Amino acid sequence: MGDQEIPDGGPVQVAVVGGGSIGVAFAVVFARAGFTVCLTDPDPQRREAVPREVTERLDRWSRAGLVTEPAEQVAARVRVEGELAEAVASAELVQECVPERLEIKQELFTELGRLTGPDCILASSSSAIPSSQSAQGSDAAHRSLVAHPGNPPLLIPVIELVPSPQTDPEVLDRAQELYSRAGLSPVLVQKEVEGFVFNRLQGAVLREAYALVRDGVATVEDIDTVMRDGLGRRWAFMGPFETVDLNTRGGIASHAEKMGPAYERMGAERGQHDPWTPELVAEVTRQRRELLPLDQWEQRIAWRDEQLLRRS
Ligand SMILES: NC(=O)c1ccc[n+]([C@@H]2O[C@H](COP(=O)([O-])OP(=O)(O)OC[C@H]3O[C@@H](n4cnc5c(N)ncnc54)[C@H](O)[C@@H]3O)[C@@H](O)[C@H]2O)c1
Repeated sequence: MGDQEIPDGGPVQVAVVGGGSIGVAFAVVFARAGFTVCLTDPDPQRREAVPREVTERLDRWSRAGLVTEPAEQVAARVRVEGELAEAVASAELVQECVPERLEIKQELFTELGRLTGPDCILASSSSAIPSSQSAQGSDAAHRSLVAHPGNPPLLIPVIELVPSPQTDPEVLDRAQELYSRAGLSPVLVQKEVEGFVFNRLQGAVLREAYALVRDGVATVEDIDTVMRDGLGRRWAFMGPFETVDLNTRGGIASHAEKMGPAYERMGAERGQHDPWTPELVAEVTRQRRELLPLDQWEQRIAWRDEQLLRRS
């Protein structure tokens, strides 16, 4: 855990505001990384339950090898506090995990603006409320952003960082660094779009799945089987772009040439006219070729097959 220390020698101090399912999970993620955590919740029942839930989760993670220190040593880094002001006073990162209601978040961010230090990062766990709304009226909008975790955080390690137009780029850099040190996999969402990236991708699949059930094409169980025993096998370790890049000799440009018209027709059937224009395909190809030059394509196919074999 020594590499989790910040340069001045002290551990990173984090405050978690809201001790529900996401708040407790974040407390464990940060404590596991060597950070000290102060969690606060206005509900005394939640405050009483949190230490037990932290210990239970740590025990499970220890058994799975996710925690290498003794669980009680990690749990000792999580303190529960009744007063918001006390909990956030010396935090360098506040992770907001309160219910998904705009008025609660707005009131909290305004208060956090007053209660936290000038360099403290204010991160909202929200799945859908962008920071330009939650931090509206707060004088800390420049140090606020959304940091949307998977559920449960760490087991689904991606965390979407969504700045508002007011967010200071330096705050975003520091947030990226802190979440990486916490063992998460931060991804920058460059614009505040509804659903961010995670839920937009999930939404695209779900929309089609619902439509296929409605149209009598397949049952719910069979659609889940196609995902579990089909697409999901590859998507467990590669994204959709890498998947099709490896599916067609010549890479993704060749895939788009062969399959683009069929996908366009499928979209049009659903009233979605979003063709893969030559410019768009060229940009996606450019980014893929930076990640995987075509002369390494065969090697990557062998890697993919090895990954599939391990999961078979
Ligand atoms: N549950 C998920 O799958 C998931 C996934 C990603 C992100 N999120 C987001 O995380 C946030 C929290 O979700 P959750 O599922 O943990 O909710 P939850 O209802 O389990 O927990 C919310 C907690 O906040 C506390 N609270 C209420 N008002 C508060 C206030 N003013 N100050 C401090 N604490 C307050 C409540 O007592 C409760 O313990 C939401 O914004 C949600 O969208 C949830």
